[in-house]
Amino acid sequence: MSVWRTKSIEQSLADAETPEFQLKKRLTAVDLTVFGIGVIIGAGIFTLTGRAAAQYAGPGVVFSFVIAAICCGLAALCYAEFASSVPVSGSAYTFSYATLGEMLAWIVGWDLILEMVLAASVVAQGWSAYFVTFLAEIGITWPAHLGPQDQPAFGDFNLAALLLVVALVGLIAIGIKESLRVNLVLVAIKLFIVCFVIVAGLFYVSGANYDPFIPARAGGVESEGIHQPLIQWAFGLEPQTFGVLGIISAASVVFFAYIGFDVVATTAEEAKNPQRDLPRGIIGSLVICTVLYVAVALVITGMVKYDEIDTSAALATAFRDVGQGGFATLISAGAVAGLTTVVMTLIIGAVRVLFAMSRDGLLPVRLAHVNPKTGTPLRLTFIVGAVVAVVATFTPVGRLEEMVNIGTLTAFALVSIAVPVLRKRRPDLPRSFQVPFNPVLPIVAALICIYLTLNLSIETWLRFLVWMAIGFAIYFLYSYRNSRVGKGGDDSVVEPLHM
Ligand code: ALA
Repeated sequence: MSVWRTKSIEQSLADAETPEFQLKKRLTAVDLTVFGIGVIIGAGIFTLTGRAAAQYAGPGVVFSFVIAAICCGLAALCYAEFASSVPVSGSAYTFSYATLGEMLAWIVGWDLILEMVLAASVVAQGWSAYFVTFLAEIGITWPAHLGPQDQPAFGDFNLAALLLVVALVGLIAIGIKESLRVNLVLVAIKLFIVCFVIVAGLFYVSGANYDPFIPARAGGVESEGIHQPLIQWAFGLEPQTFGVLGIISAASVVFFAYIGFDVVATTAEEAKNPQRDLPRGIIGSLVICTVLYVAVALVITGMVKYDEIDTSAALATAFRDVGQGGFATLISAGAVAGLTTVVMTLIIGAVRVLFAMSRDGLLPVRLAHVNPKTGTPLRLTFIVGAVVAVVATFTPVGRLEEMVNIGTLTAFALVSIAVPVLRKRRPDLPRSFQVPFNPVLPIVAALICIYLTLNLSIETWLRFLVWMAIGFAIYFLYSYRNSRVGKGGDDSVVEPLHM
């Protein structure tokens, strides 16, 4: 069956070596780690920590962060092995095309688009929450109906998020390279703010807030009907939040905070020594973020009783609540600066994956057209930008994170399974980094990812199934027939990409 046809690793590498597609190889392990931290630390820690603690896990959210980190760590090892043996751009999509065949690669690509486009929208909404908080701190009131909303009324829209997305798409379109220095400065600000929250917050931690550390399980409107986790419905478990199941549900929510280490793999072609440095960048950034996240979660739930935590801008408001308005202003300003790079990098990531898919003919090749003036794929940039803008502007906050997670977890599961497959098919490939305990570890990684998806709500699953159905329809009606690998040739002319 030719839906299982693969694009050989040699072909992918050759595509990347073609002079007009060649990107400058200058990133070191430290650059890659900085890049990783730049994408990873975002709305997840700044907003979801509060929501997960208040609605699902209480201070036990600390365990949720550890569980999500273990899941990501295992997947990161699998990504690292791939990145060290197939150092081409396109990340998980390219890895899967080389191993699992075209149809599964399409699914991975389709999931990555879901991940990055929706994550960019969600982080833009998180940005707007901190932007509005920041303005309030300095005495400016942003109209409530033009900011982030849980339940927008007719006519309400998130103008703040819209303005951010429009500005960023404008920058990306005119080809302003996210220069390493700017990225470095923003990452430094972000790290400073996170460390500041941890250190300054320690002084306001009260032991009483940790009692109970794992609040007794409770039912609740939140987790009934299609809002309940799939696993709860499937096994007839009592609807519940908090308790041990609450911690696991929270893990599948805060998982969002770790998303981004996989985006490091998309820079493979720009790394000086990808075989050695990509695994370091991927694993290094993940380890640093895990330590910081656990510390932040401990501090925030120690500062504010979990049921009183503000669910939209938790870090800043925690300080306002303890009478430190000045600190709150500083944190909001840092979050506004720090979240900007996350949105931008995710938009670029989505464009890169779509570019790779269009170049392979799975989407119309003309979408991969590179504007000769700017050297960027303007059409794709505008399409992605428009979708991100619409989603960020018109959807209520707090509804889409789970969709991002389900897309990412599915991609992680497929990449993990691909590791033993590639070991078997191509034992000859050089692998400077190898996942230990193959095939047990990759299989465990895939199972944990799948288990976490079962903890997402039925509503999320239904939406995801609709997304997959659309994906399959496009694949069988268009991509399958137009695939360049399927046509057996590389006859289309695609312009080089500079981004
Ligand atoms: N991990 C990124 C964030 O939390 C997507 O914003």
